[in-house]
Amino acid sequence: MVRADFGTDFQWGVSTAAFQTEGAYDADGKGLSIWDTFTRRRGKIKRGHRADVACDFYHRYQEDLAFVKQMHIPNFRFSLSWPRILPAGTGKPSDNGLDFYDRLIDHCLAQGITPWVTLYHWDLPQLLQDRGGWTNRDILSWLSEYAACVAKRYGDRVKHWMVLNEPTVFTGAGYFFGVHAPGLTGLRHFFPAAHHAALAMGHVGRVLRSEIPGGAIGSTFSCSSIHPASSRPRDLAAAKRADALINRLFIEPVLGMGYPMADLPALKGIEKYMLAGDDALLPFDFDFIGIQNYTREVVRHVYWVPYLHAKIRPARRRGVQTVTEMGWEIYPESIYEMIRKFSAYANVPKIYVTENGAAFPDVVVNGGVADPQRTEYLQSHLAQVLRVRNEGSNVHGYFVWSLTDNFEWAEGYRARFGLVYVDFETQQRILKDSGKWYGQFLENTNSGSSVR
Ligand code: FCB
Repeated sequence: MVRADFGTDFQWGVSTAAFQTEGAYDADGKGLSIWDTFTRRRGKIKRGHRADVACDFYHRYQEDLAFVKQMHIPNFRFSLSWPRILPAGTGKPSDNGLDFYDRLIDHCLAQGITPWVTLYHWDLPQLLQDRGGWTNRDILSWLSEYAACVAKRYGDRVKHWMVLNEPTVFTGAGYFFGVHAPGLTGLRHFFPAAHHAALAMGHVGRVLRSEIPGGAIGSTFSCSSIHPASSRPRDLAAAKRADALINRLFIEPVLGMGYPMADLPALKGIEKYMLAGDDALLPFDFDFIGIQNYTREVVRHVYWVPYLHAKIRPARRRGVQTVTEMGWEIYPESIYEMIRKFSAYANVPKIYVTENGAAFPDVVVNGGVADPQRTEYLQSHLAQVLRVRNEGSNVHGYFVWSLTDNFEWAEGYRARFGLVYVDFETQQRILKDSGKWYGQFLENTNSGSSVR
């Protein structure tokens, strides 16, 4: 497998997010985000880790972009920190915040690296959460004010935009299970948050499109192939419900298909938050869809789980040996199945894999990091991307998660996903062997000679 197998117009990249890398949590007038406050709550993050400094990307972006260049990665995906730009969430923007992303974008372009910007990668301004956050329908106007502000400022140089990162995860983990910021629980928080997130994609997509002529506007979706634990009808039905929740809840309303209520009747609770005319506001013709895949899930029928009556069987419980540091099963066919699934929808013009990668317990030995498992993970997943592309699916790009090790949400710093190792005590960076491999793979633009 070589780069040329994917064609010359295939987009290669690497992905990051503001809260996980930037640090400088209160520098130069930045406001607090829900993650700044959530990480200060006892017992919420493993080992009590916080992201006050993280990778210090705010100060070290030049050093980190040098790795992007060294690896011959043409596209760099990062997110904007909303409270760095609008400390109160709305109102007066911070010149310092706006200037930081000017410098970052200009530096990317000067290095020949194309910036891909995610508007919302989970770090909502705390002052907006104090007004209900995603449960408050006003989020639509707050978010469009922010979107218009950054589109006007950066739209001349940034042409690739993603509205939301993984709405299923931030509404599910943040507003139902309470394991992510803002730590709210229950359907009374989840349903309004989910409906407003679904509406936000089109609402903000329209703002970006009108502000940035010629821009490519997308949004990203988490997805995992869902397999029933057995061929018993009850498990098959449970897998179908889980698929509706995990894979279909947000993409289908955007595509004009409505919420998948027929296959998951509990979703009818969303209707309480729908206003007249919302059906027409949900669909939006995105230029591309970002899909983010890490593993598969095996699901069985469980009567006592409310609403869903289904439960994921964790890989370790199933006796699976090939798991990552996150406990996620390594199952490359999942990315194949998911690209096929999303490709099969009508009206999805282009798919990019905007995240794929793995955490392993990396160690530094003699100044290097040998991580053959990560290289193998990336190669096996890329082989599946190539397979589905060759079968005619419309996948047009692949971004590794992530550039550097970073703050992995509730897992803290232990889960290392980077192509570049970070010593969080000293902020020293080391290119891992997987990063060297990715660099060689991208450098080799000839067909024929294999890098394996
Ligand atoms: C995704 C998130 C990303 C990162 C990876 C491991 O769900 O979008 O920020 O945490 O998982």
